[in-house]
Amino acid sequence: MGNSTRRVFKTAVTGALTAAILVGTGVVAAHDSKKERNIESKYRHDVMEQVKYSASNIRLLARGYDGGQADAMALNIENLFNAAKLSKGAFKKDTRGDKGHTEAKDAIWEDWADFASRTDKFVADIETLKAAQASGDQAAFGQSLRGVFGNCQSCHKKYKAD
Ligand code: HEC
Repeated sequence: MGNSTRRVFKTAVTGALTAAILVGTGVVAAHDSKKERNIESKYRHDVMEQVKYSASNIRLLARGYDGGQADAMALNIENLFNAAKLSKGAFKKDTRGDKGHTEAKDAIWEDWADFASRTDKFVADIETLKAAQASGDQAAFGQSLRGVFGNCQSCHKKYKAD
């Protein structure tokens, strides 16, 4: 990829990604690590951490970091895809009223159909991203990347406590 191509990537993706990742990390910093999570909360927290770390590496690669191998972007997108696919199952058990720290709002289980459909959309958007990346169409890549990252804040706003 040439320098001018990288610049196009960068402009297309930096804003949306920075916003999305800041939302994620800010929340982590704010939460009290002394509060114990129960097993469900720990599991879904770690699934979300996998989402966060793959997303963060996709952002670095999109900004021009080469990752040390030609297929680093595809592999990181695959990691994000797998983490996203784990998210519906991770939230399936209704833990309202259970002991232990969580940022998961009761609204998740009050409207499970909506929450579940958001996890499906998240996965579908990453499938679109995979196709765009494989095609080498950079405009499509930038657009689908913004699409993928739009899911983070829109879901957190409704279903994740600060
Ligand atoms: C379908 C809804 C949904 C989507 C989409 C989603 N998240 Fe989350 N996320 C949550 C919920 C709910 C929690 C709180 C989980 C808990 O504390 O049990 C969370 C937690 C997190 C956490 C903190 C871990 C924790 O539990 O404290 C990070 C970081 C995070 N998400 C990053 C992201 C990023 C980055 C994206 C987008 C690439 C994303 N999330 C997409 C629902 C979602």
